[in-house]
Amino acid sequence: MQNFDVVVMGAGAAGLFCAGVAGQLGLKVLVIDHSDKVAEKIRISGGGRCNFTNLDTSAANFLGNNPNFCRSALSSYTPRHFTDLLQRHGIAFHEKHKGQLFCDRSSEDIIQMLLAECDAGGVTRWQPCSLKNIVFSASSPHAEGIGSYEIESDRGTIRCAAVVIATGGLSIPKIGATDLGYRIARQFGLRLIEPRPALVPLTFDGEAWAPYAALAGLSLPVQIETGSKKAKISFLEDLLFTHRGLSGPAVLQISSYWQAGTPIRINLAPGTEVLQALMRAKASSRKLIANELAQLVPSRLADAWVQAGASAGHDWQRPINEASDKALAALAERLTRWELTPTGTEAYKKAEVTAGGVDTRDLSSQTMESKQPGLYFIGEVVDVTGWLGGYNFQWAWASAYACAQGL
Ligand code: FDA
Repeated sequence: MQNFDVVVMGAGAAGLFCAGVAGQLGLKVLVIDHSDKVAEKIRISGGGRCNFTNLDTSAANFLGNNPNFCRSALSSYTPRHFTDLLQRHGIAFHEKHKGQLFCDRSSEDIIQMLLAECDAGGVTRWQPCSLKNIVFSASSPHAEGIGSYEIESDRGTIRCAAVVIATGGLSIPKIGATDLGYRIARQFGLRLIEPRPALVPLTFDGEAWAPYAALAGLSLPVQIETGSKKAKISFLEDLLFTHRGLSGPAVLQISSYWQAGTPIRINLAPGTEVLQALMRAKASSRKLIANELAQLVPSRLADAWVQAGASAGHDWQRPINEASDKALAALAERLTRWELTPTGTEAYKKAEVTAGGVDTRDLSSQTMESKQPGLYFIGEVVDVTGWLGGYNFQWAWASAYACAQGL
């Protein structure tokens, strides 16, 4: 039997950061991960350069049943705290756009920094190591403390006062994602918000998608929205057509809010007065409608749009001066308010994150401790999900820091 103050399950972003801070506060910390590698998601993130935070982070960039839960942790550990840490380690970074910070060199810089912070805190790491069982024994009324945990692992049994669950979500199972965090939450009677893939491409029924499949690879800026009038959410980002549906930042963002069976609406020419432009062209041009449309949107899209319209019975394959006002109005409406209902998502195989998770009603927003004394949850396993753009790592750092201070 080995004794530690804290066992952190998961050597990912949140787990390693929490372990380093706790170790440097004087706690004896063990990190366990079933993978032989650390922080695989950091490695592959941001195209290999890790979009490690966003300068404009606020609670408004997160989803969860309680949108205020993340406030306290985010305000105690801000993007500036993290960039100060990077600067102390001499890691160069830059802002790409919309406050998103990336490493100049590689994600590996962040991983090495987290490992160096763990070393500075004397953190022990067991990898690969699998957990077999975890039990809690309450102290006798006369003993000190709330009790202790006994963790049975394939490297032996450990006793500790606190356990931090940082096992992440279900996205990308092939690099080590499991449901361990949710199982432990259930074991100790904590509530779960049903996990679901988020920041994920959306798919459409094969036959209905056929007219657009030829657009695969085309990317353009759009305005995208979902939800009812009362609870509408919208993003202005790039959209990417794929063979099976839609992807790109616009679609990943909206996917986190999309409810199965409901439509999304897309303006494929945001900032352009499409109808006015078509009416002006009608008065002065004899070109085909598709050619005039190609002045407003990419020509591949203009061609596909007119063709798809024709198969739906619209009279759009003629010179624009011969088109009726009604036909042009219908074309403009369809281009700027394209309403379509996804049949599904590309699921955990392609999702960047998992929405839902451990119910924040059962966690302290100050320390991330659960109702089960000495059991903490941090990072993506919690029902706090960030937008695309560095927010999920900022949540990992902030929740880990709050937890380490509370241990
Ligand atoms: P994380 O997933 O990082 O770590 C969990 C750890 O637990 C892993 O090491 C895993 O092996 C371990 N584990 C799981 N099950 C276990 C078990 N049964 N036993 C032991 N160990 C177990 N975010 C962002 O802000 N900016 C970005 O650029 C990107 N880019 C990005 C790209 C891609 C392709 C993906 C999939 C995701 C992103 N993200 C992102 C999201 C980001 O990677 C994610 O939110 C954080 O890594 C979450 O950190 P955690 O520490 O909570 O989990």
